[in-house]
Amino acid sequence: MRTKLVAGNWKLNGSLSSIRELIDGMLAGVDAVKTAGVAVCPPAIYIPEVTAMVKDSKIAVGSQNVCDQDSGAYTGEIAGAMLKEFGCEYAIVGHSERRSLYGEDDAMVAARFAAARRNGLKPILCIGEKLEEREQGVTEDVVSRQIDAVIAVEGISAFADAVIAYEPVWAIGTGKTASPQQAQDVHAFIRGKLAALDAGIAENIIIQYGGSMNAGNAEELLGMPDIDGGLIGGASLKAADFLAICQAAG
Ligand code: PGA
Repeated sequence: MRTKLVAGNWKLNGSLSSIRELIDGMLAGVDAVKTAGVAVCPPAIYIPEVTAMVKDSKIAVGSQNVCDQDSGAYTGEIAGAMLKEFGCEYAIVGHSERRSLYGEDDAMVAARFAAARRNGLKPILCIGEKLEEREQGVTEDVVSRQIDAVIAVEGISAFADAVIAYEPVWAIGTGKTASPQQAQDVHAFIRGKLAALDAGIAENIIIQYGGSMNAGNAEELLGMPDIDGGLIGGASLKAADFLAICQAAG
């Protein structure tokens, strides 16, 4: 049985004091989350502070990206081993903001996915279509291409230690959530695609939904059979909202 995973993607938000307040608020309520896994992905510079604060709790920590290389002349990047050394368990790769604003293509995302795994981090691979792609009816082609780029480098077996986050780009930060059925359809497609290569991996992999998930719509989305949690942006910045989503996950 898959357990659900709710991860907060804080993006470029917070300060030392606001992050301490947010984590304190989460620590106060996280024991009410019974079965779901809970993770937060702070801006990298705050990772040591956050891992120290959540040390004895069920809250795990992830990074928002990871370098495709392990060391060397790669100014501005952070290596998987460095993130691991400071207590990260997860690394988001291929977030749509990285793809669209910073030019990371499928091959680069696959290389970052590989770097996460080789350094003992679980990649959270973000995939999803843009609005015009949904309107053109090519959503399945887009998510297939994004997954195939990783399979080409790492093989299907790599997905035994990975999470997928389906995040329709048109739903991220817009307040426009995919309907539970729209999301479920794509999640079922993704699982079916993986099942054609390895039924066990497909059955066990966590496929999160991301895109304007909040305390009000989480229960309905998380009630769909192939939605195994959420990758939460805006609503992860308030402890009460984020905890409500985690509790809706179980
Ligand atoms: P959002 O962001 O919840 O603010 O839409 C989700 C994400 O980008 O991971």
